[in-house]
Amino acid sequence: MMISVIGGGYVGLVSSVCFAELGHSVNLVEIDEEKTEAINAAIPCMHEKGLEELLLKYVGTRLKARSDYSCVAETDISFLCVGTPSSGDGSPDLTMIESACRMIGTSLDGRVGRHTIVVKSTVPPGTTENRLVPLVMGSSNKMLSEMGFAVNPEFLREGLAIQDFLMPDRIVIGSSDKAAGDAVEAAYRGLDLPIIRTTMATAEMIKYASNAFLAAKISFSNEIGNICKRLGIDAYDVLRCVGMDHRIGPHFLNAGVGFGGSCFPKDVAALISLAEGLGESTSMLRAIMDVNERQPFKIIELLEQRAGDLMGKRIAVLGLAFKNDTDDIRDSRSIPVIRELKRRGALVAAYDPQAIRNMRKVINGIDYCNSAAEALRMADACLVMTEWPEFGELDDEFDLMSSRIIIEGRRVLCCDDSEGICW
Ligand code: UDX
Repeated sequence: MMISVIGGGYVGLVSSVCFAELGHSVNLVEIDEEKTEAINAAIPCMHEKGLEELLLKYVGTRLKARSDYSCVAETDISFLCVGTPSSGDGSPDLTMIESACRMIGTSLDGRVGRHTIVVKSTVPPGTTENRLVPLVMGSSNKMLSEMGFAVNPEFLREGLAIQDFLMPDRIVIGSSDKAAGDAVEAAYRGLDLPIIRTTMATAEMIKYASNAFLAAKISFSNEIGNICKRLGIDAYDVLRCVGMDHRIGPHFLNAGVGFGGSCFPKDVAALISLAEGLGESTSMLRAIMDVNERQPFKIIELLEQRAGDLMGKRIAVLGLAFKNDTDDIRDSRSIPVIRELKRRGALVAAYDPQAIRNMRKVINGIDYCNSAAEALRMADACLVMTEWPEFGELDDEFDLMSSRIIIEGRRVLCCDDSEGICW
């Protein structure tokens, strides 16, 4: 197939290389020319396992990035992968996706034959049908019968996004009509997995409900973990057994300092905003966010119990990315932790294998280090904030600290004198 992918961010870039891997010709439309040039030079703009290899394999053959929409008319199907960031009240800001819809509509004027527009971006239920379809149709001279619309949410985990694209648990396709759904299904031909066909609003809701449920599992585990900590019980021993019940499942029960990233905080906030707009109560969803906002302060509280007043103390913070195998710091729990450490007068020495460059843009006035050992040297205490595998190999490096107070917000260390936030 001839595919357009609109947006060269995380989801768009991963989707583009994966559609190329599935044998399609992909035009990636990214309005930022610097990014377009980088992609065409096979330089990934973020750290993601396997991405560079696939870019090198397909750039110049099956994959080309462009900064204008003129190529859309030559393709059969467009996947919209632009950001829908949180606006002030929690609802998603649809400015970018609305503008992309207008641009696609205009660019389809010259097209002969049907074109299907697929929304991969996360949008509230009803958005595609009620807002995006009219925008596309209003900016194009096409008949509705020449167009198909679909919603195909992504469930990609950063760090594992390529694996998740090519081996997902399911593919959800909501469509305006059968032909539109069939066109999306054809783009995934070759993957042997369950495909769920549904309405566009249902597909939109599946994405929010999935992310809210995963976030709920984490906040639930964290609250159980906080209780366990008070009782001197290891939350991991408890939750491992809880997860053996097939009705619960073993995943996403890792208690710790809370969730971050580009999806969970934004999507739970969007669902709350949506529900409240409908007059529905959101006590469960609000509790997910409340626990998540409190966890960073729990780790500071524990640190103060062990290290005393933080004024003038050197605190090593290991891990800045919101999780391992990414350089993404969006909503990373390290941000509120470092801000609070600074507020309390601590001197922060921070290290991360990939995310220092991004964190520098957000937080200054701390000591960014080139290695965990450098951060630990003469530290009065250490906080582990990201489960990078290399932290699991740290051993003698902790001897460099001036006092050995090691607190984990993620369970990753092997040394036997560390203490966890929930264990
Ligand atoms: C998530 C969803 O998993 C994905 O399906 C969606 O489309 C995008 O958002 P991602 O944000 O990449 O993916 O990361 P994920 O692995 O889900 O972790 C999110 C956060 O939760 C991280 O901060 C992680 O450390 C934390 N987490 C995860 C926990 O604290 N405990 C867990 O058990 C699992």
